[in-house]
Amino acid sequence: MKAAKVDQDLCIGCGLCCGICDKVFRMNEQGTAEAYQPSTDENQDAVQEAIDSCPVSAIVWED
Ligand code: F3S
Repeated sequence: MKAAKVDQDLCIGCGLCCGICDKVFRMNEQGTAEAYQPSTDENQDAVQEAIDSCPVSAIVWED
């Protein structure tokens, strides 16, 4: 199972990732996104799309 991580220093809170994959990403109280669940086989493509779509490249796969 892979997990994504949002760099809190880079995220500008645009919310795109949450819209693309709300099973993994949500906005936190600081107004930035966080990955609150690991990715599953079902949403791995959506997580990759979120990674590719983030305007500031704040999301990465964790090892
Ligand atoms: Fe932040 Fe990028 Fe998502 S800016 S809200 S991690 S699409």
